[in-house]
Amino acid sequence: MIRVLFVCLGNICRSPTAHGLFAQLVRERGLEHRVRIDSCGTSGYHVGEGADRNMARAAREAGYDLSDQVSRQLRRSDYTDFDLLVAMDRSNERGIRSNMPSGSEAQLVRFMEFVPDAPGPDVPDPYYGGMDGFRDVVRLIEAGCEPLLEHVLAMDE
Ligand code: 4NP
Repeated sequence: MIRVLFVCLGNICRSPTAHGLFAQLVRERGLEHRVRIDSCGTSGYHVGEGADRNMARAAREAGYDLSDQVSRQLRRSDYTDFDLLVAMDRSNERGIRSNMPSGSEAQLVRFMEFVPDAPGPDVPDPYYGGMDGFRDVVRLIEAGCEPLLEHVLAMDE
């Protein structure tokens, strides 16, 4: 069993989308017994809230449901409860690294490392922009999920 945690800033846009889309792929492949998935934010700004409504709308337009997502903050136990920490941008990556307890064995990666022909190192923060930004997030995450799943399954061998 590989445990995967997606991490962004608020856990209302990018990481819930990655969580929802990746979970759907894992379900479609019948791999729920091998992969456990969660998401969180480095900040506590939106704790207890569901996915951002524009984010949920963009996901729904593409056939994905984010209605089960509830924001929570990254906590110390995440560094031992998860095998793979997936940062949505470089700032999230720094935030995760700066709180990492010594001796943590979790692997830290950035989502864009898995997006073929990635346009940059970060899944852009869509929060203050228009619908196109939310749709871009869905497209990037759709592109990276399959390569990420390959990586996760290789960790389990
Ligand atoms: P997320 O987007 O990190 O993808 O969930 C954001 C959500 C909220 C804020 C920033 C980014 N905020 O500043 O409140």
